[in-house]
Amino acid sequence: MIYSDKDKKFKRYTITSALPYANGPVHIGHLAGVYVPADVYARYLRSAGEEVLFLGGSDEHGVPITIKARREGVTPQDIVDRYHNIIKDSFKELGISFDIYSRTSSPEHHETAAAYFKKLYEEGKFVEKTSMQYYDEEAHQFLADRYITGTCPHCGNEHAYGDQCEACGTSLNATDLINPKSALSGNPPVMKETKHWYLPLDQDEPWLREWILEQHKGDWKTNVYGQCKSWIDAGLQPRAVTRDLEWGVKVPIEGVDGKVLYVWFDAPIGYISFTKQLKGGDWEKWWKDGDTKLVHFIGKDNIVFHCIIFPAMLKAEGSYILPQNVPANEFLNLEGDKISTSRNWAVWLHEYLKEMPGKQDVLRYTLCSNAPETKDNDFTWKDFQLKNNSELVAILGNFVNRTLVLTHKFFEGKVPAAGAWSPVEEEAIKEMAAFPEKIGRAIETYRFREALAEMMNLARLGNKYLTDTEPWKLIKTDPARTATVLNLSLQICANLAILCEPFLPFTAEKMRKMLNLDIKGWREAGVADLLEAGHAIAKPELLFEQIDDATIEAQVNKLLETKRQNALNAWAPAAVKPTVAFDDFGKVDIRVGTVLECTKVPKADKLLQFKIEDGMGTRTIVSGIAKFYPEPEKLVGMQVCFIANFAPRKLKGVESQGMILSAEDKDGRLVLVTPSQLVTPGCNVG
Ligand code: 2FM
Ligand code: ZN
Repeated sequence: MIYSDKDKKFKRYTITSALPYANGPVHIGHLAGVYVPADVYARYLRSAGEEVLFLGGSDEHGVPITIKARREGVTPQDIVDRYHNIIKDSFKELGISFDIYSRTSSPEHHETAAAYFKKLYEEGKFVEKTSMQYYDEEAHQFLADRYITGTCPHCGNEHAYGDQCEACGTSLNATDLINPKSALSGNPPVMKETKHWYLPLDQDEPWLREWILEQHKGDWKTNVYGQCKSWIDAGLQPRAVTRDLEWGVKVPIEGVDGKVLYVWFDAPIGYISFTKQLKGGDWEKWWKDGDTKLVHFIGKDNIVFHCIIFPAMLKAEGSYILPQNVPANEFLNLEGDKISTSRNWAVWLHEYLKEMPGKQDVLRYTLCSNAPETKDNDFTWKDFQLKNNSELVAILGNFVNRTLVLTHKFFEGKVPAAGAWSPVEEEAIKEMAAFPEKIGRAIETYRFREALAEMMNLARLGNKYLTDTEPWKLIKTDPARTATVLNLSLQICANLAILCEPFLPFTAEKMRKMLNLDIKGWREAGVADLLEAGHAIAKPELLFEQIDDATIEAQVNKLLETKRQNALNAWAPAAVKPTVAFDDFGKVDIRVGTVLECTKVPKADKLLQFKIEDGMGTRTIVSGIAKFYPEPEKLVGMQVCFIANFAPRKLKGVESQGMILSAEDKDGRLVLVTPSQLVTPGCNVG
């Protein structure tokens, strides 16, 4: 680290980002929580000249993948192939600069994970236990984790899983669930004996307590520290690292069949197997050298796995380093609601990239400036528009554009030579010099929002300088001083091109091209001589475009449609009303009538006025269905059912002599009830 690691300088950085499950695409919650901050960190360190390994990949095991495959009638491999490619491509297009993005279904990974388990097994690091576990007699299968659902004993949620309740976040054992049910057959499971291998976390408690709660007090984020403390204080329990399943890394013990490594045992080993895949024989220094800084970027639901279980696995192996930090973020909500894959309540990255081409940096900017670093945060499309129009366009884009346009206008696109700096310039240069450290320190300590805000403050400084000095007026009276002003403005642009790169890599690239700036690193920023006098710059192009209301409205409408669909999916028939006697039913006189006329009731949007032939003459009935029958004249000739013995009542000045029957569909639509064949008007329904 350049600024913050006072006691120890690390030689290299192994940066991991949580491996997303390949059972769906990634959404903005994943990005804000994990990948954008991890990418900013990796890019910053590379810019600062550090040796970096930034790892990513798909987590392709686990029960949700097999459940999805079963539902779709395809293999788990089909599912992970589909999503791995979508995820990998969309990360690349967003500029997430992984050195490798691999996957845990690869043979290389299976081999590494199996060897890791085998070593621990042979060294006696596991405890073998036989226990009674739930078994589905119809499906002939043990029910691990998500194959079993039931009521959470903590919060009463009826849809809790065998490993976790998503409503209250509690980590569960399947046997904790009340009224357990198999997700395969829907039947209550039976108990059956099975053997598994456990990591004896109870024995790890003393060193974990010392390592996390003492050594990392103060440097790990409070949310991470707090979660670790409550886990440790509650007393750690041995944790099973094998499962009775088919899909996963086979347990590498002779004679053991139908068992795989627990997904949370194999997935973090992915970080190691991907390193081997990329670095070949040179992989070990990234994991075993005390001069390597290991940092895990994750979301808050992964804290226990990366702070307690994976470190315990690393320690048990014996030759690995432990993470120096685990900067977990909280969750991002969307328009005030929890992001949910099953409810499709998300902004999916691959869809965003298609619908908003060329706007990768706008999303990166919005998510970084809103990153849920200390508490859950909310993404709204209005805020996205505001951040683009009032910050990226109005501050950064405007400053760079004004500077370049004026340089072309007054100095033929060449950096004009600066004269002597006046106190105004000296002040601006002094302020500018502080930015690399301010931004760098914030990134090094995982305060990405603050780092981004500081980067924008440099653009603000540039804008203010231009507004104060007014070179567009000054040129008429003092061309020499105008040259000085534009020289410094161009130097600020060049600094911005370096300092915005971790956050806005596409913009940085455009700026570099426009300024004809050689690639320069973080350590070269902060000075006012990045561009020499006479250096030719290219034609300016706009860095950002305004986003109009219609674009935002289209996105909001897409979400509203999702809400509507969800409401429909959640629909269930109303509960049956209490029993009534037949005599009570007989009191209601329901009949069939033929529509003779049907018109809208003036000044009443909802009402239609029917003239009905009822076998005895005609009657008028007013009905609140106008919204669903926009062409009422078309109802003439149709037969409807109506209640003939309601007392007349006035609706918008019209006397209604009964009530026409309609069915309310699940989307709220009212549909007229009509006999299946023509009948004589006035006949009874019953
Ligand atoms: O929570 C998740 O999405 C997990 N797939 C993260 C795994 S991270 C790692 F350990 F591989
Ligand atoms: Zn619960």
